[in-house]
Formats: sequence, structure tokens, C-alpha cells
Amino acid sequence: MLRRLYHDQPESFAFTPANVEWAQGQISKYPEGRQASAIIPLLWRAQEQEGWLSRKAIETVCDMLGMAHIRGLEVATFYFMFQLQPVGSVANLQICGTVSCMICGAEDLIAICKEKIAEKPHTLSADGKFSWEEVECLGACSNAPMAQIGKDYYEDLTAARLGEIIDDLAAGKVPAPGPQNGRYAAEPLSGLTSLTEYDSGKTQYNASAQMAVDLGETVKRIDGTEVPILTPWLDRTDKNGGKSKKAAPAKKVGAKAAPAKSPAKKAAAKATVAPASVTAKEKKPKTMTAPRKSGADDLKLISGVGPKLEGTLNELGFWHFDQVAKWGPSEIAWVDSRLKFKGRIERDDWMAQAKILAEGGETEFSKRSKK
Ligand code: FES
Repeated sequence: MLRRLYHDQPESFAFTPANVEWAQGQISKYPEGRQASAIIPLLWRAQEQEGWLSRKAIETVCDMLGMAHIRGLEVATFYFMFQLQPVGSVANLQICGTVSCMICGAEDLIAICKEKIAEKPHTLSADGKFSWEEVECLGACSNAPMAQIGKDYYEDLTAARLGEIIDDLAAGKVPAPGPQNGRYAAEPLSGLTSLTEYDSGKTQYNASAQMAVDLGETVKRIDGTEVPILTPWLDRTDKNGGKSKKAAPAKKVGAKAAPAKSPAKKAAAKATVAPASVTAKEKKPKTMTAPRKSGADDLKLISGVGPKLEGTLNELGFWHFDQVAKWGPSEIAWVDSRLKFKGRIERDDWMAQAKILAEGGETEFSKRSKK
């Protein structure tokens, strides 16, 4: 199936302040130079915030991670978990249409979606509450046919049961996920034939289905009211080089107590060194009020500088590679304190890149960007 960006795109995207803070926490999980590893959680957060992923959202995430936009587009268009067009305000139903589910009645489930939601997939229902799509195997084949709705699997479905689930969701109810035919998990329908003693401590529903019932939700999106999980894995370092109070691990329903730090983690935390710009005294670099007559350099050829950051740099008075190449720790500290995402100048070593570009050379990134 072709996955394309939606034809009607919003003009801008911005994370909420709480989500910016959350995103910075995610980025800090990864070692220097590996920030692109945060692409999936950041795209997911953007989708949770807006309901779907617009081009601007993908590009914003790429800029935050110092990635070429095409890399983010590759990820977003590859995974079905990312919605590239508006979805229902209550839920988007993902109906598995692969072999096991198809043999067991997926086409009947799709017929119900067409009847109750919209004739075509990726189309909003008349009231805007629902949308649906057919997806590839979701790995619950022994409970076919099934659908993912929100965060949970609804398994062993019939068309009639799916219809009831849609009606319940429309009425603001939260139907219990999991098998819908009385099975507990994926045991034979006639009951267990082995491991029959493996029954102690059983909750009413199996695994995450029980969690959904306990929380009383399965389709709710992250809306910023959750206790944010920031950086419980790091001791934070403040601007004066001192250690600030460690971020408290978030308390969540069903969350286990955090295990004591392993020696390896302790060593890693100890080895976390503040970038030079954090400890250096700020000094304003030489700035310009306008680019030279020859025209401004394309600062986006520096890995880590996206269109937004380039605009900010221009506003601050930087138009040319040779200006950036001259920054020392104090100048970096001055610029860094005026950027949204601190530490990226040194993380991507803008100065070394700018020096090569100012001398007419190419970096791996600038070569790729020009292609
Ligand atoms: S075929 Fe539907 S979950 Fe595997």
C-alpha cells in the first residue's frame, strides 16, 4: 500500500511546552551523535498531540534531531503506526486483513467499518469520531480476526461484536479489550488442555487488557496531563556545573518501583560530562546586521541546522560559515543560551563543519543535502 502525505497540510507545527520538555528528556537517553535514535518516540508524541502526522510535524522532529527531512519522512511513511492523514477524534480502527484474520472473517469486520464509519479507509465518519484502515498482520493470529483500536487489541471478533464496540466507543464507553468470545488469552476455545495448574494469581482479564480495564481507557491520546517522564536516568547538571536534584521517576498506575542503579549505569551517569558551553562564561561573538554582498551562506548545510534554526541564526546576526567557524566555548555559550535546544552546537560540532564549508570543502552531510 502506498503511504503518502495528506494533500491538505497545516502551515506549521509546534510541540506544546510540556512535550518539548518531554522530547528533550527522550533525546538525552542517547549518546552523543546518536540523537536520531529518538525519532520514533518523538514522531509518536507529535502524533499523540495532533492525532496525525503532518509534514511540518515530521520536519520539526527532524530539525530537533539534526536529521535530513527525508530520513524522517522515510520512517513516518514506513510504519503503519504513524497516521499520515487526519483520524477520528475518538478512534482509528486498524483491521488486520492478513491471512489468518481474512480466513476467519476480516472482510466482515471491514464491511461493518464501511457501514458504520465510512465507505473508504482513511476517511472520517460523518461525525468525525472514527476512521478505519486495513493493516498487515498485527501478530495476534491465534485470536483472529482482530483489530487494534487505540492502544489495545480486540480479538476473536465478529462483525456484530465490532459493531457494538464502535457504538460503545461513540457513546463514551470503554469496552474491555482482549478476546471477545470468552477466551482468556490464546488457549483452545474448549479450555486449557495443558498447564492447567497455571491459574494462580490470574486477573480477570489477561495482561494489558487488565491494565486497560484498570485505567478505564484504551483510546485516549497523550494530552499533556500525564505526569511527564523526563530524565530519571540522568543526574542533571546545572549551568554552574553543579548537580541539580535528580528528576523524580514518574508514578504511573501499574508502574514498578525503579530498580537500584547498576554499577554500569552509575558509571555512565558519572561519566556524563557537561558540554564546554555549559561551564564557559558567555561572550557575544562578532555579529553582522546583514549578509555580505555576495549573499548569505546556506547554513542548513551544517548538520543540525534546519530552516528554523537558520532563521534564528540569521536573526542573531550569523549569515556565513566563517562566522560560525570562529566560535570558541564562550561564544558557543552565548549562542547556545539563545537557542531552544541547548548543546546541539557542540554535539554536531558546527564549528568544524563550518570551517570545512567556509574553505569551500564539503562534509558528508553537505554532500547528501545537495543531492
Ligand atoms: S493475520 Fe491477523 S493478526 Fe496475524
